[in-house]
Amino acid sequence: MTAPKILVFAGSAREGSLNKQLAKLAAKRIEALGGQATFIDLKAYPCPLFDEDIEAQGMPENVLKLREILADHQALLIASPEYNGFITPLLKNTLDWLSRPYGDTPGLKLFAGKWAALVAASPGGLGGIRALPLGQQLLANLSLTVLPQPLSLPKASSAFSEGGELINEAVGQRLDTLCQRLVDVLAVTHR
Ligand SMILES: Cc1cc2nc3c(=O)[nH]c(=O)nc-3n(C[C@H](O)[C@H](O)[C@H](O)COP(=O)(O)O)c2cc1C
Repeated sequence: MTAPKILVFAGSAREGSLNKQLAKLAAKRIEALGGQATFIDLKAYPCPLFDEDIEAQGMPENVLKLREILADHQALLIASPEYNGFITPLLKNTLDWLSRPYGDTPGLKLFAGKWAALVAASPGGLGGIRALPLGQQLLANLSLTVLPQPLSLPKASSAFSEGGELINEAVGQRLDTLCQRLVDVLAVTHR
């Protein structure tokens, strides 16, 4: 069996997204900790707002590309801002499309048996913390196993060094701990 891989993306498409920055750092840390990570930018895979009429006309090209990528990974690490205390529409829409049955693949099949970890960044003081339990619940509904103790990064506009590392060492350590847990659990479950 090939080494398990972790798919890393952000729930924001914005150029200069703090969550993309956090996601890229998480991917780098996963690699440094002995795992394999793939960072993708959802801006490169624009999908229409989910509508069963659109789906009935055929799965959009970018959904098919994302399905292929997801099928090739055994875990997700998602960095997402909160919008009004909730997960972003981009994240919900992407996960909704990926949850659909297609061809011989039943709904949720692409998520079943996989692991997930969540992180959140915000320029505000709460660090996106209110949406983390909601994101965890959504991922669990999709039949992923979600690691506890997600990381939130408040005041994220000033949290990164020029090299893209976290300036606060304790927060960097917490990110490493979460990434290490994901790497370790995959090493045990995908031997
Ligand atoms: C519609 C909307 C709602 C927002 N609601 C919240 C919120 O509830 N809590 C928060 O901390 N920031 C909120 N923000 C600010 C975002 O955290 C901020 O724009 C952040 O930089 C977005 O993440 P990104 O940098 O990864 O794009 C909101 C932004 C938008 C556009």
